[in-house]
Amino acid sequence: MIDFTLSEEQLMIQKLARDFAQKEVAPKIKDNDQKAFFDKNILTKMAELGILGLSIPTKYGGSGGDYISLGLACEELEYVDTSLRVILSVHIGLNSLTLLTWGTEEQKQKYLVPQGKGIKSATFALTEPNAGSDVVAIETKAKKDGNYWILNGEKMWISLADVADHFIIFAWTDQEKRKKRDHSGISCFIVERGLPGLTTATIHGKLGIRAGNTGSISMSDVRVPKENMLGQEGEGFKISMFALDQGRYTVAAGATGLVRACLDASVKYANERKTFGDVIGKHQLVKEMIADMATSYEIAHMLWLRAGWLKNTGQRSTKETSLAKMYACDASERASGNAVQTYGAYGYSDEYPVERFYRNCKGAVIYEGSREIHKLMQADYVLGYRIDKPTRCSLPTPEE
Ligand code: CAA
Repeated sequence: MIDFTLSEEQLMIQKLARDFAQKEVAPKIKDNDQKAFFDKNILTKMAELGILGLSIPTKYGGSGGDYISLGLACEELEYVDTSLRVILSVHIGLNSLTLLTWGTEEQKQKYLVPQGKGIKSATFALTEPNAGSDVVAIETKAKKDGNYWILNGEKMWISLADVADHFIIFAWTDQEKRKKRDHSGISCFIVERGLPGLTTATIHGKLGIRAGNTGSISMSDVRVPKENMLGQEGEGFKISMFALDQGRYTVAAGATGLVRACLDASVKYANERKTFGDVIGKHQLVKEMIADMATSYEIAHMLWLRAGWLKNTGQRSTKETSLAKMYACDASERASGNAVQTYGAYGYSDEYPVERFYRNCKGAVIYEGSREIHKLMQADYVLGYRIDKPTRCSLPTPEE
């Protein structure tokens, strides 16, 4: 039986995330966005509330909660600002859930427990200056030296790069396979800030998500202990795809929250602003924009809920997550454009948040699989060119 009723725990987590975002972030987000200021206190507050440990079992320092609760939190956070949801995407979606699934018990105790508690923050680094959609084009290399791997390379467009304590980093460990573009030559490493040779920087001048931190990571002969390899040698590509299944889920739910934020702001203004002797909400072409936002919110919400339900029940959700991510991000781009349109000239100024929504939406149409990558995946599924195979490790079902 399908039941759309949220449980008490899910409602509680939804409210917790909503209250936190409204009380702690909403009053200062315009200022932080204008100054392109990443407020580190936000991480501390999120840790105190257990938000950084959502969906991580309590035995690993997390606050538990199922995957739908994680989606609900992402929706509420991005309703206020995309930068908040991005924290969950990298810390939980891409990193912590990957460690939970692929890590050894020792790795979980050492890295996941402090991440679950929010004592340490974490991110994921796959993308490089010359490799985004085309993952096997990465150039970062890892060479074995006794009990260490020596990493050299450059990662780019990494959320929380200049802030996070822990990184999951992908590198070629087999140079012969690299020449053949054989993904089984890529491996994955847990890397800590502070290792000699690792430096990070912040990227300035972004179009949106200006209150968030995005940066680069440079590695020059970084010695990573061999026990920090995540998964087996050569499993890096599959681990990156697995991680993206979880990261894209948080992006889908977050972009859905952005659609709702655009809808609520537009409804409010449509009932206040008058033209031609009546509030603009009475004009059919404004109604058309509102109808599109309301409809796409419901569809986006249902799509990520379905992906969350699959995750909760231990089923693979690569196809459904990709669709949810693609649809919600496109919908948020359309909704924020229409929200600015509804506000007219005022929407073009920073007097109202819709201008920020319009700038914030664009990143997610590009990252964690661009719209084009997701279209390709959806087409390949229906054409029968893409068939998901079982993986060595699969996302654990949430703890009872
Ligand atoms: N889980 C586990 N394994 C998976 C998988 C998944 N979701 N998807 C694929 N695999 C496995 C396949 O089963 C296959 O295994 P075998 O070789 O044993 O058959 C292997 O991985 C190769 O899979 P594909 O043939 O599907 O791979 P592909 O080369 O066709 O690539 C792609 C597909 C969809 C284009 C993929 O490369 C892709 O998603 N690209 C986009 C990458 C992306 O989203 N990058 C953004 C990263 S975000 C970032 O780094 C910045 C930040 O701040 C977070």
